[in-house]
Amino acid sequence: MPNSERSRAAQRRAPDDFWGCFVIETKPIDGKAFAAGLRARIAEEVAGLKASAGLTPGLAVVLVGEDPASQVYVRNKAAQTAEAGMASFEYKLAADTPEADVLALVAKLNADPAVHGILVQLPLPAQIDANKVIAAIDPAKDVDGFHVVNAGRLAVGLDALVPCTPLGCIMLLKHHLGSLAGLKAVVVGRSNIVGKPAAQLLLKEDCTVTVAHSRTRDLPGECRTADILVAAVGRPEMVRGDWIKPGATVIDVGINRVPKDDGKTRLVGDVAYAEAQGIAGLITPVPGGVGPMTIACLLQNTLTAAKRQKGLA
Ligand code: GUN
Repeated sequence: MPNSERSRAAQRRAPDDFWGCFVIETKPIDGKAFAAGLRARIAEEVAGLKASAGLTPGLAVVLVGEDPASQVYVRNKAAQTAEAGMASFEYKLAADTPEADVLALVAKLNADPAVHGILVQLPLPAQIDANKVIAAIDPAKDVDGFHVVNAGRLAVGLDALVPCTPLGCIMLLKHHLGSLAGLKAVVVGRSNIVGKPAAQLLLKEDCTVTVAHSRTRDLPGECRTADILVAAVGRPEMVRGDWIKPGATVIDVGINRVPKDDGKTRLVGDVAYAEAQGIAGLITPVPGGVGPMTIACLLQNTLTAAKRQKGLA
């Protein structure tokens, strides 16, 4: 190799050699503590709204069927809604409920002035078209932010109800990093619930955003360009330590239950957490990272929806 080329090659390697001089201490992002603080602030605002405007924000949660994970989510949502001082309405329907009955319930909740937010727990049984149900929810009460009106408003930069999990990710990022402007963000996963809205929100924060997915060429190399790496693929520990740029902030949205040697199970994220130690600068653990933020942001969205419906925001 001629000298000039060797020198250029050395320059290209410089960032790795540079980082090699340092020992990186990887810090966990405590989503559980942040979510508790957020819930406390929401409870305070709810108490104020009750006293000043006689307004009690109300959240209706609809569960169809007996999916065990969904039952746990719905129980937690109802408990935390009540703890925040909001009204909680729970509808548990049999697994064989016809689609028309779910649509009729949504229409009733749309018309109920005590209900400011409506959440239909997903997944729904096969006989029910989730898109049809989401489309039937009044966009002003769509606290999941799944309705096309809210997705469209987010995409064009208008006020929208934003999906809870990505909203929680952005809150954690801004709290720990301050301004995100100019940072390179790579979102792995393109779901309507997390990947796409996370990308929109990062763009709104002036990040340079790449959405990567299962068909992305050189996924590890793409991830290594990220200052902010958001993993939302639902595949246990898919993102390896050497996919992470040294010092990057890693947001792990995955919650995967995997078997242990003793026959029990444990929760892992989409990122190989142990491998990320000494490479990532900040990382959300699983559990205790993004997970607790989802319900806190649902309460935040319910509060926002209630205030907008009353002309208070
Ligand atoms: N199932 C798992 N997570 C969610 C969520 O955030 N919203 C709804 N509606 N269903 C879910």
